[in-house]
Amino acid sequence: MAGAKNSSLAIIVAAALAEDRSVIENVPHCRDVQTLLEILRTLGVGAEWTGPDRLEVDARRLTGHTAPHDLSRQMRASFYVAGMLLARLGRAEVPLPGGCVIGSRPVDFHIRGFEALGTRVATEHGYFKGQADQLRPATYYVPRSSMGTTINLMLAASRTADVTVLQNAAREPEVVDTAVFLSLMGARVRGAGTSTVTVEGTQALRGVTYTVIPDRIEAGTYLIAAAATRGDVLVEDLISEHVTALLTKLGDAGVTVESGPSGVRVKVDGELRPVDVDTAPYPGFATDLHPQFAAMLAAVPGRSAIRETIFERRFGYVDELRRMGADIRVDGDTAIITGVQRLSGAPVEAVDIRAGAAMVIAGLAAQGETQISNVENLDRGYDRLEEKLTGLGATVRRVRG
Ligand code: UD1
Repeated sequence: MAGAKNSSLAIIVAAALAEDRSVIENVPHCRDVQTLLEILRTLGVGAEWTGPDRLEVDARRLTGHTAPHDLSRQMRASFYVAGMLLARLGRAEVPLPGGCVIGSRPVDFHIRGFEALGTRVATEHGYFKGQADQLRPATYYVPRSSMGTTINLMLAASRTADVTVLQNAAREPEVVDTAVFLSLMGARVRGAGTSTVTVEGTQALRGVTYTVIPDRIEAGTYLIAAAATRGDVLVEDLISEHVTALLTKLGDAGVTVESGPSGVRVKVDGELRPVDVDTAPYPGFATDLHPQFAAMLAAVPGRSAIRETIFERRFGYVDELRRMGADIRVDGDTAIITGVQRLSGAPVEAVDIRAGAAMVIAGLAAQGETQISNVENLDRGYDRLEEKLTGLGATVRRVRG
């Protein structure tokens, strides 16, 4: 598996907190990473690939405090640049982010946290503008479990002496990964992975060499693809505890799951059964695996339901799966799936990253050919997707783009 996209995005920005160079290993080649690197370069940060998955980030000449509009709008993680710039330069002008169209996805929790740390904030012309001569430590209650807010405030607090406390912090592995990286740089971060994270910052952050954790969402996507195609696949290089909720649901659906030192193997011997799933913050069932799981359940006869509790507009995949013969109805926050015997290949669109992954899974399981347009969305989050699927025996071809 590739390194985690969502860790990499946070850690690359974290590297720019030090007036130094860092080497980050196991960084996935996906478009969101490339876009972030372009944003950082406009601020004076050097970023070069020095190996197949190794990135060197040189932040000794960071001087810019204004992130470019068009690039930043493309992805929500660009907003991490705000936390980093406030910590490093005391000044940040960063566009309010865009990203996947899966909900309103505001950044109000981030902004309120920056204010708690002593930032004067204005939002004008689509930009967040923050200024703080000296950030001060604070205790901040994250209003609702939010990975982005937790990470952004860890970044912002990482150069501030004394202890900042984040309550109701997100517990995702990517938060822990970022916290480990910051600790190696010299900040004292405690409690990451629990709901209270403390950060004792220092101006003397230094560059480090670090390896990003494996991508649990990418791994989960392949595990679901294996089940949906009634295959037998071993996914190596993943941390199986990171996908426990998924493995439990796959087991409930009748998939044979074997976790061992070499990875997680899934295979399907008999008939699959319908299941009900609620997405939830980690360690719950990841919202980023919801569309893929729906694609699998669409061809499991019987009635399944997926309740989405994180992003209200996660259901963009539903109309596309219907084109392939799926019987799915959205009732409030829940997709009600009446599984059919077999989906049929059709032209569909990757409306966002994970919806795109759902189309790939549905297409692999369906009878006939499926053409997926807007594959740029898949490229945002998946590293060498066609190559990996081809290696598993799928017939996948990039026609254009
Ligand atoms: C990150 C991941 C995304 C994943 C999500 C949930 C990255 C780049 N993206 O997104 O893939 O699906 O975690 O695991 O790492 N919210 C607010 N105000 C805020 C911030 C969040 O209302 O200021 C809401 C969101 O709309 C959402 C919920 O809080 O309903 C959780 O969002 P959050 O965990 O922050 O998601 P992201 O960090 O954007």
